Amino acid sequence: MHVGIIMDGNGRWATRRGLARLIGHKRGAAQVKKIVKSCPELGVETLTLYAFSTENWKRAAHEVEGLMKLFRGYLSNNLVELHEKNVRVRFLGDPTPLSPDILGMMQTLGNLTKNNTGLKLNVAINYGGRDELVRATRAIARKVELGELDISDINETCIAEHLDTNGQDDPDLIIRTAGEMRLSNFMTWQCAYSEFAFVEESWPDFTREVFESTLENFHSRTRQFGAVVTAQNKFTE
Ligand code: IPE
Ligand code: IPE
Ligand code: MG
Repeated sequence: MHVGIIMDGNGRWATRRGLARLIGHKRGAAQVKKIVKSCPELGVETLTLYAFSTENWKRAAHEVEGLMKLFRGYLSNNLVELHEKNVRVRFLGDPTPLSPDILGMMQTLGNLTKNNTGLKLNVAINYGGRDELVRATRAIARKVELGELDISDINETCIAEHLDTNGQDDPDLIIRTAGEMRLSNFMTWQCAYSEFAFVEESWPDFTREVFESTLENFHSRTRQFGAVVTAQNKFTE
């Protein structure tokens, strides 16, 4: 099962407590660790975390810098543990505008864990679903131009293979915290048949228990994928 999480509400969590928004992000980063740890026990095989969108650069410079500092901390503090826990880490998004040291750490973690067989953890940094489709379109067009691909070869499988998630199943469930009901440019292509869960808790309050009950609710749903599902042919995960 693949779960995508739009980790929202760090800023509001802090503001409500009279704290700086960055304190909320710090608490959010701590929450990531707990949720990642809980995945194998909860039957989650792939977890995609939306950490920073292509639109988040619009925030105040000190907030962006603070978030980058937290990524640095997360990457350096969790490298050994993620590898020990057999997690395979992949990054989604366009890494080019990120600072070279963050890029280096992302490459190290990706390479170190690439043959691991446990949880597949995707971290979406400078990710936008539309940007991903633009990059995929360019890559496909380049191949057509070079004669490596024929226009008639472009189909849904071909497009999926040129996305950052190539080789992975689409998310079965997308969770967004903090009560907002929108995707904010998350997995535009991949969400076609995802189930959605919008929970009231802000990301720093999204505990393992809340995660578990959200997953229980998901498992009680019937997914039809356009077909008519009867008791006899109910789709199973
Ligand atoms: C999510 O929390 C973290 C990022 C988008 C990086 P927000 O910072 O969006 O928190 P709110 O939505 O302002 O409360
Ligand atoms: C979405 O949250 C992006 C991430 C969680 C990384 P935002 O807080 O940036 O989304 P909007 O601006 O409320 O749509
Ligand atoms: Mg937000």
